[in-house]
Amino acid sequence: METKVFKIDANNIDSQKLKVAAEVIKNGGLVAFPTETVYGLGANGLNGEAVNRIFSAKGRPNDNPLILHIAEKKQIYDLVKEVPLEAKKLMDKFWPGPLTIILEKKEIVPREVTAGLNTVAVRMPENKIALELIRKSGVPIAAPSANSSGKPSPTEASHVIDDLNGKIDVILDGGKVNIGLESTVIDLTRNPPVILRPGKVTREQIEKVIGKLGETKVSDKEKPKCPGMKYKHYSPEAKVVIVKDGENEDEISKKYSGKRIKKLKYKDEEEMAKNLFKDFRDADKDGFEVILVREVKEEEFGCAIMNRLKKAAGVK
Ligand code: TXA
Ligand code: MG
Repeated sequence: METKVFKIDANNIDSQKLKVAAEVIKNGGLVAFPTETVYGLGANGLNGEAVNRIFSAKGRPNDNPLILHIAEKKQIYDLVKEVPLEAKKLMDKFWPGPLTIILEKKEIVPREVTAGLNTVAVRMPENKIALELIRKSGVPIAAPSANSSGKPSPTEASHVIDDLNGKIDVILDGGKVNIGLESTVIDLTRNPPVILRPGKVTREQIEKVIGKLGETKVSDKEKPKCPGMKYKHYSPEAKVVIVKDGENEDEISKKYSGKRIKKLKYKDEEEMAKNLFKDFRDADKDGFEVILVREVKEEEFGCAIMNRLKKAAGVK
């Protein structure tokens, strides 16, 4: 299959190109599109066959459920059995934005989306191109990150091309994403609710709106500082080494003498989140064998950054 790449200016959206992309979605095809977090790989979220194509293109295990992306808050009422007050408060405060809400699903949501679970994940992204694509398609769009399974999430269109060229119909190239890490995922079917994946919307921000959240249990023994489910995740070819506070980079480098070492440096957490996945990809492309990254505080947004870093480094 030939993958078409359309460059789109979010501030001056070419409606003809969006129309073509929306037709692809309506006809059961696959469109990669930018969101504020990472690029997504979208299909008609009400069409099980179309959703199955996402899993094939990515090589994703089909027991890992997908997020349904919507363009209007009210669309959630079509997809879930009940929207509790907590959900309404979170939607009002954080949508459109990087927060994914899990609730009990309605019949209309196909099992391919939820991997057979009776719950569904829903989010309204804060990206004009994504919102316009969803609107024009007229359906919720099921989308995981648009990487091949095992690679880091794509933060620009070239990453999607590297992973999925020839396997999907269209890529909407809207430039670099804003945030660079995937959305916060909160399970509102538990009482108290639990964060399954930390992201830009922090635990502290959520607790201000709906009160105390539960702890994410990783195992019986450990209690993590930050919430975050333990699931298999990408690590680059290069070995990722987290440099702890008070540790000396040069000392650590000595341990890997003879190896090609890439030291990643960032001025702040925002810049780090935005560039981390790209820098992992680039380090692998350039043949580095070791990547050194300095840790950040496991607080607020730092929780999300450390969650991804630890997974890449293969530590808990
Ligand atoms: O920022 C994001 O969330 C991006 C953009 C494209 O929206 N999407 C994304 O999708 O990161 P994905 O598929 O890579 O991650 C979705 C996460 C997975 O960890 C999945 O297990 C979890 O959400 N998830 C989805 N539905 C769930 C459900 N019903 N119950 C528990 N976890 C669920
Ligand atoms: Mg992903």
